[in-house]
Amino acid sequence: MSDGHQQPGTLVDRWVERRFFKKLIKKTRNFGDVTWLGNPVWQNVLDLWTIQETIAAVRPARLIETGTNRGGSSLFYAHLLDLMGLAHDMGKILTIDIERLHTLAHPRITYLLGSSTAPEILQSVHAFAKDSPGPVMVILDSDHSRAHVRDELERYAPLVTPGSYLLCQDGVIDELPMFHKHGEEGPLLAVKDFLDSHPEFEVDHQRCGRFLISHHPMGWLRRKA
Ligand SMILES: C[S@@+](CC[C@H](N)C(=O)[O-])C[C@H]1O[C@@H](n2cnc3c(N)ncnc32)[C@H](O)[C@@H]1O
Repeated sequence: MSDGHQQPGTLVDRWVERRFFKKLIKKTRNFGDVTWLGNPVWQNVLDLWTIQETIAAVRPARLIETGTNRGGSSLFYAHLLDLMGLAHDMGKILTIDIERLHTLAHPRITYLLGSSTAPEILQSVHAFAKDSPGPVMVILDSDHSRAHVRDELERYAPLVTPGSYLLCQDGVIDELPMFHKHGEEGPLLAVKDFLDSHPEFEVDHQRCGRFLISHHPMGWLRRKA
């Protein structure tokens, strides 16, 4: 289901992709037990590879993640920055969650406890991104309700530097009925709302459709240069 709006292919192709995707989600319990070096990371591994490719291309000096969970995703990003040989000040990560669900630590990572849209958290986030010596990149992976993601988009998108990315995760919630148990609206609708009034961002369809199936349809938002 990559980016349902742009992906080339016939109806049969899309049916096959969707069927495979649903089976993969069931088989992996929605990627709930994926690990990075033994640490839980709650990501579709194909999408995680696209994140790796993007981090390598952008070389973010400041990477902000909402939704730390058990800490594996931010640890993975920190290890990538290590492998890229970036000096610590040229590759820092700030990750935010309402709960502390891990005991991990890494010199590049700052862990914040609180809601991603709370004023005191936003103040720390702004201080972190201010005067960044290089690109700022954002990954939104916290509360996936449409209202919260819309709020996050408004507050975090201005931090993204031209040519860099904001990844809005898990728009798949709005695409697959298996996630519609309680009828909530999610990130994909928030992204569409956001794009209506933010022409400074565009969807990177190539990244969204990189591996045909993705949890993040229309999720890769590039700030125009
Ligand atoms: C999908 S998990 C994040 C997965 C993690 N990024 C990973 O890849 O392993 C979502 C997390 O968002 C957190 N969360 C929920 N509401 C939040 C909010 N308002 N602000 C920050 N984090 C929130 C939850 O506690 C949960 O740990």
